[in-house]
Amino acid sequence: MSSSPEHRFFCIEGLDGCGKSTQINLLCEELGRRGFPTVRIREPGGTEISEKIRNIILSPAHGAMNFTTELLLYNAARAQLLNEVVRPALKQGKVVLADRFAWSSMAYQGYGRQLSLDTLRTVIDIAVEDLWPSHTFILDIPVEVFRDRAAKENRVADRLEQEKHDFFNRVRQGYQQIAKDFPEKCSLLDGTQCKIDIHKNILDSILAHITK
Ligand code: TMP
Repeated sequence: MSSSPEHRFFCIEGLDGCGKSTQINLLCEELGRRGFPTVRIREPGGTEISEKIRNIILSPAHGAMNFTTELLLYNAARAQLLNEVVRPALKQGKVVLADRFAWSSMAYQGYGRQLSLDTLRTVIDIAVEDLWPSHTFILDIPVEVFRDRAAKENRVADRLEQEKHDFFNRVRQGYQQIAKDFPEKCSLLDGTQCKIDIHKNILDSILAHITK
C-alpha cells in the first residue's frame, strides 16, 4: 500500500450524501484557479467500460448479486479506470481527485458485507497494484444524515442505497476503523461541519502535499 510522494492523487470518501461531490467541485475550482491542472474521477465509473460495470453493480434489478461478484466488479471497474485515466494523468503531472477509491471496497464489502479481509486484500491488490492516493479525506456523517439527504433527493435508490440501517452503520464504523488503522493515509473529518470549513481543511492539506 505504498504511495510515492510525487503522487498528486487524492481521494474523498464516506457514506453516500456525505458531501464528497460538493468538496470535489470546490477543490477543482480552487486548484484550477491556482493553476494546477486537475482531473476528477468517480468510482465505480470514469471510463466507458467502468461506467457499464457501474450500471451492472448498482441496478436494483440485480438483487441476487453475490457479494464476491460485487467485490470483483468494483475492482474490475477500478483496474480499468486506473490504467486508462489515473496513471496517464499522474504521468502528465495532473492532480487527480477521486470520488471514492479502494477504501470504499474495504468499508462496504469488508465491513458492510463482512467479506474476509484476506479476500479483500487479494482482490484490491490485483486492481490497485501500488497506486494508492497520497491522502484520503473521509467525511464522517451519522447514518441518519445520509437517510435524510437521500429522502430529499426524491429519486429511486440504487441497489446499494436500498441496504438496511445496520449495513450503513457497519460501513460508517468501517471508515472510522480505516482512519485509525491508516492514520498517515487517511483523515477522518466531521462531514456535518460547514462545507467551507471542510473545504479549507482539505485544500490546505492537498496544497501542502503538492507544493512539497
Ligand atoms: P456513489 O453513489 O458514491 O457514486 O457510489 C456508488 C455506490 O457504490 C455507493 O453506495 C458506494 C458503493 N461502493 C462500494 O460498495 N464499493 C466500492 O468499491 C465503491 C467504489 C463503491
